[in-house]
Order: sequence, then structure tokens, then C-alpha cells
Amino acid sequence: MALREIRHYERDEVLRKKARPVDKIDDRILTLLDDMAETMYKAEWVGLAAPQVGILRRVVVIDIGEGIIELINPEIIEQEGEQIGAEGCLSVPGLSGIVKRPARVVVTALNRHGERIKIQGEDLLARALCHEIDHLDGILYLDKVEPGTLERVE
Ligand code: CO
Repeated sequence: MALREIRHYERDEVLRKKARPVDKIDDRILTLLDDMAETMYKAEWVGLAAPQVGILRRVVVIDIGEGIIELINPEIIEQEGEQIGAEGCLSVPGLSGIVKRPARVVVTALNRHGERIKIQGEDLLARALCHEIDHLDGILYLDKVEPGTLERVE
């Protein structure tokens, strides 16, 4: 495993591009998953999407403190309700802002074994799923932040 360089939203256009679906889960994808997890844990963060490490593939890792969730080609298939809360991003260091998200989502994806899985998330997990899946389409939380709520954080 290896740490990958986290790309910065002002310095790297890769964060604004649409990621391609994974058609074959090969060693490169498995290594990417491992490296993304290591990079996320090193940064003490809850989620990371492949474009954030410069790879335009539809791959996401999330851990909100309940264990690693690895998602390949994730899609939100259900969403309901609304939550309003603070959000930040490893690619947007030093800032935080309020973002409206669904209260609950259901996501379908492949796991590392190529098996179809379904994840239901509420609260923080729903927020993380939406945030990371947005990254796969070149969308940053900055695009959705409630006006006037962006602030500097440590
Ligand atoms: Co992010």
C-alpha cells in the first residue's frame, strides 16, 4: 500500500472532470482501493473519491467510524428527506460550509469482488455517500454550499 497525493481544487482540474466507470476490477483497481483507504486514514478523514488522488475512475472509500466501505461504480438509487450540516473536503483544505443533503440514501455499487452491494445510509453516512459520489462527476461541495456559510477552519 502507498499514500497517494491528494489533489487541491485550485491547482488540479482533475477534480472537475467526470470519472469513467470501472469495467474490470483488476490489480490496479484493488491497489487503488488499498491506497485510497490508507490515504484517507492517514488524513483522519471519512471519505475519499478516486479523482481526489488524480484517478478518473468511479471508485470511492468511506469510513465514518464503522469500518471501511469500498464502492466501485456507485449510484444513488433512492433518496429521501433533508439534512443541513457542515461539510468539508480534503481537496478543499481550510474551509467548511453548510450543505443541504438528503437525510437518507440508498446506494448500489460493486465491491472489490465484483459483487453487487446495496448500502443504506442516514445522517453522516448519507452525507458522505452524496459528497463522494458527487466527486465522481466533478462536483465539489463548494457548488452546493449555502450562500454565506463558507468559513475558514483550522
Ligand atoms: Co471531498
